[in-house]
Amino acid sequence: MIAVDEVRDKAAVVTGGASGIGFAMARKFLSEGMSVAIGDIEADALDDAVRALRGAAGSARVIGLRADVTAFDDVARLCHEAERTFGGLDVVCANAGVETGGRFLDVAPEAWRWVMDVNYFGTLNTARAALPILERSDEGHLVITGSLAGFASGTPFMTPYCATKMAIHGLAESLEVELRASASSVSVHLLAPGPVQSRMIDAERNAPAGVPINEDPERRRAMEDFRARQSAEGLPAAQVADLVVEAIGERRFFVLPHRERAVAALRRRLEWVETGRTPESRVAGT
Ligand SMILES: NC(=O)c1ccc[n+]([C@@H]2O[C@H](COP(=O)([O-])OP(=O)(O)OC[C@H]3O[C@@H](n4cnc5c(N)ncnc54)[C@H](O)[C@@H]3O)[C@@H](O)[C@H]2O)c1
Repeated sequence: MIAVDEVRDKAAVVTGGASGIGFAMARKFLSEGMSVAIGDIEADALDDAVRALRGAAGSARVIGLRADVTAFDDVARLCHEAERTFGGLDVVCANAGVETGGRFLDVAPEAWRWVMDVNYFGTLNTARAALPILERSDEGHLVITGSLAGFASGTPFMTPYCATKMAIHGLAESLEVELRASASSVSVHLLAPGPVQSRMIDAERNAPAGVPINEDPERRRAMEDFRARQSAEGLPAAQVADLVVEAIGERRFFVLPHRERAVAALRRRLEWVETGRTPESRVAGT
């Protein structure tokens, strides 16, 4: 097993690094002695995050770039800039994500496309931009943020989010097996949490003009319930970041902050496959 402190003196990129899980990962990498480049679409939040991280670690080890993961060139620039500034790149976290939902026919095609663009194509862009650079490291790590929703198919009123997270899990699992088969120096890690304290519940703040927000009262009520549960039951993002660094150190693929819930979701899915009977509706953590 590789010791956790072997990630010291390395450099990391985190997309969606201005808030929540991404910010916590950036802070954890810095505390491990690494340098960090964060990218985000929210300019003010990015400035605040860079200032906070520099306050803790000094300005030489932190850079921030406005990078929209839906644009391949933005993510490529972020990765190249990190490699150039820090003399190498060892860890890339494809983390940026958004959520929208509601009753299936109430979700506009533009909203579907936005969630698919950020969550799925954003992850794909990041993986495609990062891999050739990570391959130049002795030991590269691509950390992909999925979700329990990527295991627990059948979450009502969250069809776009679930579809993207299942697609991301498929991408991460296939890529990891492909890289192992070709003896690549890069490992993939799939982070699949349940509820974590973050600003995810307000993800629609980043919806581009032209994406209609579903104001259906039932959807709004469900979101407020989720907000209450997330702040009451959600894990602190810092705990999730600790687990990510542990998994990198052990070269472990799955990072499961809610392991029992992940296993229960997969059991439920297997039973669905085996019996063909649709399970009772329930709302899972994102
Ligand atoms: N919070 C949870 O309960 C939870 C659970 C499972 C998975 N996740 C996943 O964790 C990841 C991080 O989310 P979070 O919970 O920290 O939420 P968050 O809203 O706090 O952070 C997400 C960050 O992504 C940024 N972002 C949004 N669109 C972007 C784009 N196009 N390009 C670049 N950056 C963009 C946001 O500005 C924000 O800083 C997401 O992939 C999310 O799906 C979250």
